Order: sequence, then C-alpha cells, then structure tokens
Amino acid sequence: MKFKEKFVKKYEKLTNFEEYKNSVENNFARKSVKINTLNYSVNSVRKSLEKDGWILKKIPWCNNGFFIEHETGRRDIGNSDQHKKGMIFSMGAPSMIPAQYFKYGVRSKFLDMCAAPGGKTLNIACLMGGKGYLKANEPNGFRRNILKINMERCGVEKIKFDAQKGEDYLCSEKFDGILLDVPCTGSGLIKGKTAKTKKLLKEWNPKVVEKYARLQKKILRRAYSCLKKKGRIVYVTCSLEPEEDENLIESFLKDHTDCKLIKPARLNGYKIKSGLKNYIKIWPQYYDTNGLFIAVIEKN
Ligand SMILES: C[S@@+](CC[C@H](N)C(=O)[O-])C[C@H]1O[C@@H](n2cnc3c(N)ncnc32)[C@H](O)[C@@H]1O
Repeated sequence: MKFKEKFVKKYEKLTNFEEYKNSVENNFARKSVKINTLNYSVNSVRKSLEKDGWILKKIPWCNNGFFIEHETGRRDIGNSDQHKKGMIFSMGAPSMIPAQYFKYGVRSKFLDMCAAPGGKTLNIACLMGGKGYLKANEPNGFRRNILKINMERCGVEKIKFDAQKGEDYLCSEKFDGILLDVPCTGSGLIKGKTAKTKKLLKEWNPKVVEKYARLQKKILRRAYSCLKKKGRIVYVTCSLEPEEDENLIESFLKDHTDCKLIKPARLNGYKIKSGLKNYIKIWPQYYDTNGLFIAVIEKN
C-alpha cells in the first residue's frame, strides 16, 4: 500500500500512524447489517440469517445492527434472500450511529439531504416508526434511482423524494432534523488492499480536500436555513480530514452563534471510542471498520 509523503506527515499528527497503517493494510472493513425494524422483528431476521449459515455479533451501539460473517467465509451478504426481501440493509457499523442523535416526535419532520443509496435514510425511517414526515434528497439521478429502489425494497412507503443540489437547496418547509452525509474525499474508506483503497490513496491531495470542504460549507449553510429552532443537524463524513470535519464545524459555529454543538451521548449505555472529545471520529483501527466523522449541531 503506497501512502504519499504528505499524507503520512499529516496523518502522523492526527492519529497513531503505525496502528492506523496496520489496520488499513491488513484487514477488510468488517461487514455489518442493520435489520429493517420498520417491517421485521430483530429475532425473526436473526434466526433466518443464522439458518443460512450467517454468524451475527451484536454491534454495541445499535440495537438492531450486527457484524456479520458466513461460516464458509463468503462475504456477499448483498446476494442473500434476506437482503433481496428488504429484511436487512448492508452498511458499515459506524453508519448506524448518526440517525440516533435526532429527537423523534410523532409529528417531526426530517430531511436527508445527501441520501443515496439510503442506508441512513432507512435508519431514520425505522426510528420514526411510521410517524412524522421524511424527505430524501439526492441530486444524482442514477444514485436517486438506487435510493428509490432501496426504499421500495425495504418497504419505506411514507417518504418523499427530492433532487436538489444541497448547496442550492430551496425548502418550502422547515425541518426538525437534517442529516447531512455530505460528499467528501472518502479518506475514511481507505481500508484493506482493494481497488478502492488504491484509487483513494492515488487521488488523495490537499487541494481535493479543500475543494470538498468548500462544497460542504455551502451545503451546511443551506441546511441551517432549512432548520427549525431547536432542530438538529447531524453532519457526517466518511473522511478523516480535519478540514472536512471538526475545523469546518468550528468555523460554522463561529459564524452561527445561534447554534451549539451537542456532545454525542453514549448509545445503549456504550461510549463510542472517538479520536475527538466533542465529536465522534472513528478511526479504522478502533473497531476494524471504515472511518467516520459525526458532529451534532442544534439551533437555539
Ligand atoms: C456519502 S454519500 C451518502 C450516503 C447515504 N447517506 C447513505 O447512508 O446511504 C453522499 C451523497 O451525496 C450526493 N451528492 C453529491 N453532490 C451533492 C450535492 N452537491 N448536494 C447534495 N448531495 C450531493 C452523492 O451523489 C451521494 O449520493
């Protein structure tokens, strides 16, 4: 695995580089699935998967999320009957965290502003439990189709779709919760000796990081203008770059004094290991998963 010199210099300051390097060089990200509790019970799906030879291990921070392996070593959970029927959604374990930081009420309105393929949209839908209002926005037509297919497969019926660019988003209504899983460099997805890792390492460069940070800032500002008072933005990237993560949020908060940072609480009584105090930043070496950054912002 070839790390650019600039990358190494930067990452050595951000984390224990040896641990990081060992983790991303030696392992694939652990496979995991979230059970679609909108239409199925955790026990019935668990039994069905186990009958087919899948071995499930509970993810501590998510009641209906499991690390999953197969007794034969196969990794294609996406080809399983349970996946086809919409009983499960294959997603990284850290991705099951963000939706849990919203407050859910029977009439709450949610917007998922960068939604495809829809893993986190499903998480929100499950926590809404069929109540309230959910809109999923995705500007890329091809990805929006996948989002719609996934929502249909999982039986998410009470949902509206939108197709706007986040940075220009026009809202005729305000929301109690906005999920911003923004487009990013994806540096947290460097994991395992895969073609994707190779591409990410080859394309990594500080200019690209800055380009994404500029877009993310614009998207965050639009989301803010669509947020109700007391509403929350859960900002997420699969990047580990401070410019796209904590630095961006700090700069946003300086300009928006009516917003405050909410320190992410324990989930299921479980304290999620984070590289930062007031945010969640999961490095790949912590849980043998992809990396993820989460910030929770509330409007006064
Ligand atoms: C990290 S992915 C979202 C993953 C999704 N939340 C999930 O959990 O399945 C980011 C998404 O943002 C979309 N996107 C790209 N540019 C955008 C923009 N300017 N505004 C809003 N969304 C954008 C991408 O097409 C992509 O689907």
